[in-house]
This record gives sequence, C-alpha cells and structure tokens, in this order.
Amino acid sequence: METFSGRSIISMRDFTREEIHHVLETARQVDENPKKYANVLDGRIMATLFFEPSTRTRLSFESAMTKLGGRVIGFADPSSSSTKKGESLADSIKIVESYADLIVMRHPVAGSARFASEIAHIPVINGGDGANQHPSQTFLDLYTILKAKGRLDNLTIGFMGDLKYGRTVHSLAHALAHYNCQMYFVSPKGLEMPSDLLEELANMGISYQEHANYDSVKGNLDILYVTRIQRERFGTELDYDKIREGYNISKQFLKGCNPDLKILHPLPRVDELSEEVDSTPYALYFQQAANGIPTRMALIGLVMGVLS
Ligand code: CP
Repeated sequence: METFSGRSIISMRDFTREEIHHVLETARQVDENPKKYANVLDGRIMATLFFEPSTRTRLSFESAMTKLGGRVIGFADPSSSSTKKGESLADSIKIVESYADLIVMRHPVAGSARFASEIAHIPVINGGDGANQHPSQTFLDLYTILKAKGRLDNLTIGFMGDLKYGRTVHSLAHALAHYNCQMYFVSPKGLEMPSDLLEELANMGISYQEHANYDSVKGNLDILYVTRIQRERFGTELDYDKIREGYNISKQFLKGCNPDLKILHPLPRVDELSEEVDSTPYALYFQQAANGIPTRMALIGLVMGVLS
C-alpha cells in the first residue's frame, strides 16, 4: 500500500480496496476516541480554498482540522480573493502553499484539483471539482454504509437523481466497484451516468443497470443514494424545471421498499427528498453528514503523516 503521508486526495480512481479500507479503519478509530487525537496537528495550518459554495465539506473539514489541534485559513467566496482581480489558479496555489501545510479546494472546473496537486508541494484534498469527483464525500459515504450495513461487499445500491453532473455519484460508483455491488442507476432522461464512466465500470466487471424510474428497482435495494438536480450546471432555468418534475421521494414513494433500506443523500436537498422521510427508519443522511467529521479527521491526519 502506498503511504498516505504527503499524498493528495484527488479521485477515487487513485485508491485500491486496501487503501480505502485503511482510511475507513482510521476513521473508525478516530470516531471511537476523538480526544486521543486532539493535539496531533498542533502548529499546522490547513487552507480551505472554496471557489464554489459549500456548507458541509468546508465546515466539516475546518471542524476536523480544529479537532486535531490545527488551525485554518482560507476563503469561502472567490470574489473575496484575488481570483476576482484575475489571479490564476496556479499562482494562487503557489502562494497558498507557502502559508499552509495542506490545501482543501473546491473548484467548478473538472480536473482543477489534479492540476493544483501537480503544482503544490503540499497535499491537496479535492473538495469537489466540477462534475468530476468528490473523494472525501465518498469516504464518508462508505463509512456510513459500513456502519449501517456492517459490510460493503455484495450490496444492492440504487443511485437516483442527477447522475450526469453528480460528482458524489461518480466518486462513489468508482469506489463501490471494488466491492462487487449490484448498481442501479435511475435518472431523468438527459441526466444519465456519463458513458465513459459506465464503460469503466463495465471494464472492471461491475454489474449495473440503467432505469428511467425507481419503481422497478425499489423492492431489493439495500441503499438508495439520492442526489439533487445540479441546477448550477444547467444552461437555462427552463431545462432545469422540465427535468426536476417527477423526482420526489416521499413516504408514499417508499411504499414497497426493502424494510432495511437506508437512504443516503450528500445534501443539500432541494425538493427531491421530502422532510417527512426524515423521521422514518430509512433516513441516514443527517448521520451521513455527521460522519464527515471522523472521516475527514482521518484523511487529514493520514496525509499530514500524524496518523498511519
Ligand atoms: N455534500 C456536500 O458536498 O455538501 P456541500 O456542498 O454543502 O459541501
């Protein structure tokens, strides 16, 4: 297994099953005894560079770093940074690496995190690059599924919503390819999984099916992973309104599902997941978001070389 110390976290394509297991096991240890790690990053600084909006990713990374004893600098709005004055991403990274020991970055352009990691001499964690990847979300999704189901192998998982632009889906599907899961992809027309990603899954021997509606798959799902329609990546309002109709998970919608079904959602939700579902035993999405803390503490500790 490649060492995590000094390593950037860019894409789930970069991780073996053994490495994924190592991150999840580290997260479990942190989760069980967080106080043990309270000062391991004393004197170290993490920079959060968020060129796109975020609540969970940025704040849970900042909370995780603080809980490890480190400090945080950064921006949540690029209009308050020198990007507004025309500074290139490359120059921003060259500057920030002299101020911090670790960069967590979210950016609208696919591939920008890889680009930043090739420039920086410190680790870069991808907090989401366009519609491409969101690996730290995937680690917390896997951790949540593992805690709920006791395993990752041989699960039946439905992905529903905007599978074209949903970077969390792309990352998670890559990771689950290591676990012999049956995957169902349910999306409105025009928002199907990218064909190159499906080809990759097929080449890895993964069993998947595409469906236009959820009813045909709901009886045998262990996990339903829902995503919102990624409005910000649409060309026009009209396109968005046409496509979002018909995608709402309600109690009625869930009738006939596997009684052990667990629903995950990376959040934020808009109108695809009704609040009435929150009080059902299926809802796992708030716990999922909370799992961002131990998982991101583990990732930070590993790449900073204080956890192994
Ligand atoms: N899940 C997620 O990425 O949420 P934020 O956009 O709030 O960070």
